[in-house]
Amino acid sequence: MRRVVCPGSFDPITFGHLDIVARASALFDEVVIAVLVNQTKKTLFTVDERIEMIKNVVTAYPNVKVDSWSGLLVDYCKKNDIPTIVKGLRAVTDFDYELQMSQINYQLQGIETLFMSTAPAHSFLSSSLVKEVASYGGDVTSYLPPSVVELLKARIARNSEMK
Ligand code: PNS
Repeated sequence: MRRVVCPGSFDPITFGHLDIVARASALFDEVVIAVLVNQTKKTLFTVDERIEMIKNVVTAYPNVKVDSWSGLLVDYCKKNDIPTIVKGLRAVTDFDYELQMSQINYQLQGIETLFMSTAPAHSFLSSSLVKEVASYGGDVTSYLPPSVVELLKARIARNSEMK
């Protein structure tokens, strides 16, 4: 079975991520979306919330699974028998860091990284930018699935009430 992991923070998942997942699901037998558990990174959504929101938007792809991991991605890959990582490249600015990560990941555990060029429509998209636009009341419906838009709006509203 050809398996691939699509790793990230997914805080929250965007149409950019979903585009890569959908295209990878057509190329591989199984795609594992792996949500990073990073205690030091402040996120808007908990890992469980992110897993739940992702599961709800990938129902159209039966060969896509959602999981979480902490530590080195390559250790997760080895443990779960996943030889390949797939990453979306939005622009040349992504390339430098992604190249370094792919090289170290190959050196550490022989895990390959495949880069997929992001669809031009999503080339400017990032979870951070979307959160910023939403936090100022901007329209994010072109960037996120409807269920994620609702969750994001609710979380921002709750956080501003708590301030
Ligand atoms: O969505 P993000 O936050 O840009 O995703 C980055 C991520 C989580 C894919 C990357 O930081 C990562 O793989 N982190 C896990 C630690 C690791 O294995 N680092 C690479 C070798 S130094």
